[in-house]
Amino acid sequence: MSYQTKILDDSPSSIKQAAEIIRAGDIVGIPTETVYGLAADAFNENAVRKIFAAKGRPADNPLIVHISRMDMFFRAAKELPEEALRCAERFWPGPLTMVLPKSEALPYVTSGGLQTVGIRMPSHPAARALIEQADTPLAAPSANLSGKPSPTSAAHVFEDMNGRIPAIIDGGECRAGVESTVICFENGAARILRPGRVTAEMLRSALGRVIIDDGVLHAVDDSAPAASPGMKYKHYSPKAEVYVINSTAERFREYAKEHTGALCLVFEPSDAPDGAEFICIGKSGEEQANRLFAALREADERGAKTVLARCPQKSGVGLAVYNRLIRAAAFREITL
Ligand code: TXA
Ligand code: MG
Repeated sequence: MSYQTKILDDSPSSIKQAAEIIRAGDIVGIPTETVYGLAADAFNENAVRKIFAAKGRPADNPLIVHISRMDMFFRAAKELPEEALRCAERFWPGPLTMVLPKSEALPYVTSGGLQTVGIRMPSHPAARALIEQADTPLAAPSANLSGKPSPTSAAHVFEDMNGRIPAIIDGGECRAGVESTVICFENGAARILRPGRVTAEMLRSALGRVIIDDGVLHAVDDSAPAASPGMKYKHYSPKAEVYVINSTAERFREYAKEHTGALCLVFEPSDAPDGAEFICIGKSGEEQANRLFAALREADERGAKTVLARCPQKSGVGLAVYNRLIRAAAFREITL
């Protein structure tokens, strides 16, 4: 179906309009504190199918279910183990998704055929208000076309979804800029399937033990069953060929000087050699997370053929930035 995609503001009357679209079984682009999502009633199979169609997403890649209050939790999930409760108390509302056994009522279309569901309580006021108004947990993946960088503004969603969805709520730019941390539990420890703003260090302080899944730092083998199906698909890929350069700023500059014409993705302007085109994403992990996806989209807009990116730190929020960037680079990392 082709739509005239409307951009709504985040006023109460617009939220009400969006809730009506959801209740009528259609989908809406929504802001969250991490990235924009494509939301539908998690219990309406037809509506959820429209999400997969709009994104071009493989049916075995499960959606995250968003709740606004703890009393919605058991509509989507079957149990709340003690360690999950501890995480909920500490990190919700916020950018943490927990993978837990799904409720009987939650359709398999939503869980990508799995017995588990990824569940999170977002903190963005417009997302929360919409869940309240629609009075149902919302299934919502990131609102990009499958394989593209996640959208961090309503304009990005429009770029990818114009004509494919009825409406987008414009709630401004996303603060976090990378998607939520996804974890599952193993004997009381958290296993990080996708790193985000709730860092390994924060989870360790809440739970004691944290395991970082192999898929966070390395390519997963397509033929093996992945702990998180999303990890096996191509991700965040701009049109340009991206290379992650693991080196000092000085060595990076020299390398970039030898590769004229490449666009440099750097932490600060002085990282780029004189005369080179560059995009700056900031020095802290938080700034880098906030700007990375917009920078990848900008690289495409500028027509970059090659992007040389400085390598983020592999700890703290930097781990989330590295995880996205290395996928955008199809795991091309050069250590100098
Ligand atoms: O911040 C976010 O999480 C955003 C906003 C909109 O909430 N959503 C998001 O959804 O990033 P999506 O669908 O783009 O990414 C969800 C990831 C995928 O890699 C998926 O495979 C994984 O979470 N996931 C979801 N449910 C799962 C489950 N039951 N078991 C394992 N992995 C799961
Ligand atoms: Mg996504």
